[in-house]
Amino acid sequence: MSMHDDVKYVLYSEKDLQEIVNRLGAQITKDYQGKNLLIIPILKGSVLFAADLIRKIDVPCELDFMVVSSYGNGTETTGKVIIKKDISVSLEGKDVLLVEDIFDSGVTLIRLKEELLKRNPASLRLCTLLDKPDRRRCDTIPEYIGSQVPDEFIIGYGLDYAEKYRNLPYIGVLKPEVYEN
Ligand code: IMP
Ligand code: MG
Repeated sequence: MSMHDDVKYVLYSEKDLQEIVNRLGAQITKDYQGKNLLIIPILKGSVLFAADLIRKIDVPCELDFMVVSSYGNGTETTGKVIIKKDISVSLEGKDVLLVEDIFDSGVTLIRLKEELLKRNPASLRLCTLLDKPDRRRCDTIPEYIGSQVPDEFIIGYGLDYAEKYRNLPYIGVLKPEVYEN
């Protein structure tokens, strides 16, 4: 039994992901010329994406990490974000780019943005690999979006179901029978 057997279909192959990352990297490189870029991937889901993305960003930058969670019951978020691991540097004067795996309801990232804006960064933008617009619960959307995905459960390339499947090299849709029983 391989983890690939739990994949209903592949949404983005490794090659597709490379193209998405290259495009975002080029866009960010262009936008952050002469800026004081601090990239903050939100662990754990964005770790594969961020590792690839930063190698396509051709401007000097710093890297730090955060772990956040939003209180919720399984698949729904309640809207309160908890910073479980904070960054170790000040945001004062930094051009902060938060990097996320997927923007779903949007609540986690938007709440986090509100929190971090209180620390006076020079600017703060959001970058998400995937965007699931069907379940949106906020008006703001990330400045950088890799691609839109349907309202299904997505796994791979960092995204998990119950902490598994993060190591799939592609992005796929999880077979519903895996989480329905
Ligand atoms: P939001 O606050 O609803 O936007 O939640 C975003 C977070 O929910 C992401 O960072 C993921 O950890 C998780 N998430 C949302 N949809 C999926 C999915 O389809 N697969 C895996 N994780 C997901
Ligand atoms: Mg997750």
